[in-house]
Amino acid sequence: MTTPHRLWEKGTPIDDRVHRFTVGDDPLWDRYLVHWDCLGSAAHALTLARAGLLTPDDRDRLLAGLAAIDAEDRAGRFTIPPELEDVHTALEAELTRRCGDAGARIHTGRSRNDQVATAVRLFLRHHALAVCDDLATLITALLERIDRDGHTPMPGYTHMQPAMPSSVGLWLHAVAEAALEQWRAALELLHRLDACPLGTGAGYGVPLPLDRAYTAALLGFTRVQRNPIDVQNSRGRLETGFVRVAADTAGLLDRFASDLLLFSTAEFGFFALAPAHTTGSSIMPQKQNPDVLELMRAWAARLRSWVVELEALRARLPSGYARDLQLTKEPTIRAALEIHELAAVAAAIIRAFTIHRDRLAAALRPELYATQAALELAQRGVPFREAYRRIAALLAGGQFEAEYENALADWRATAGRVPSADVLAVRDELRDLAARTAHERSRVTAAETTLLPARNAAASGAP
Ligand code: ARG
Repeated sequence: MTTPHRLWEKGTPIDDRVHRFTVGDDPLWDRYLVHWDCLGSAAHALTLARAGLLTPDDRDRLLAGLAAIDAEDRAGRFTIPPELEDVHTALEAELTRRCGDAGARIHTGRSRNDQVATAVRLFLRHHALAVCDDLATLITALLERIDRDGHTPMPGYTHMQPAMPSSVGLWLHAVAEAALEQWRAALELLHRLDACPLGTGAGYGVPLPLDRAYTAALLGFTRVQRNPIDVQNSRGRLETGFVRVAADTAGLLDRFASDLLLFSTAEFGFFALAPAHTTGSSIMPQKQNPDVLELMRAWAARLRSWVVELEALRARLPSGYARDLQLTKEPTIRAALEIHELAAVAAAIIRAFTIHRDRLAAALRPELYATQAALELAQRGVPFREAYRRIAALLAGGQFEAEYENALADWRATAGRVPSADVLAVRDELRDLAARTAHERSRVTAAETTLLPARNAAASGAP
């Protein structure tokens, strides 16, 4: 008998078209899960050995085989042939090729269902930590820029009409605050992800004495995901949580990109992208285009669409595993790969865009300070509505600027600044969140390095 390709092959041939349809893009997307499936498999081998279901020899053979496969993958040499369906099948086949009988024992007490849930969980944990790093880089770039240029006055807009005095610092500080919010969300997500799905089999538990707490500890989880049905039901749910954080992070960047696009038009002229960040036109020699900002918006839009895709995929599914869940991998993996790229581009732009102070100063029209003038009257006892009307009359009569000449000079210099205490607060929270992230990471990497020493010792980053 020739070795069957598929783990479930029992002699009845499968229709080629149906085979291709069910495999879908798994050979492509599962390549991002090889490392994580190796880790999960190493923990499973150790758990089997602890339960007396693998000999110490077989266990060691499997651990060495997994480390070798993991190294192959790191070198870009591990492939998933379509006839082998997915990473789990390819891994078992390769393990069996390398370790013989021991390889054929690795699937004792596990299913591809808890296997894939585990691999994706580990992948998400890694990328949630990476999103924390992305946010740290962004906030650091924003704080540097606020230090350098924060006091530069700038008009503030409502309805895209000049409204109140603002500043470059206040504008960038808003981006930093939103980034802190996403960082807190990413840490909260890490907490949600911190439960080990392995050992739940197809979704109804495994009738073997597997020590699930041990498996969880090996993989750096602080707890076991208790209910085996919940493990399958959480597939898609936790992915949505991750993609939502990625999409919201992209969302704060697309807002920044939109602002920068608008304020860099010739008509505003407040800012300009660094020349190295612009692209040209094939026909118009004078053009320096902000394509990068437009694509940031488009990438953010696509990231949001993946939240919708994931919500749609898991809506109305019955409990337990369904093959629909296979399709949750593509939007999840793409979101993970793209958010880091998007954040890195945004940080580069934040560091380098140019500020045209003359254009900003010219835009600080006297009307921007009308509210301030009215409030000053109110402070001196004039009923606010009366003060409002008085200032409106001065504006209508063209006397406001002359009347408030001295005050305007002061206001133009300082109004709309971001309070230094608020900048300090961002700095403090950045430090606090960075410490919490480092703590999470050290726990996770300690476990991962112990399980697959070779790969992780060399690794500056997993896939
Ligand atoms: N490729 C599958 C997925 O991602 C792996 C699990 C397959 N399980 C099954 N029972 N057919 O969902």
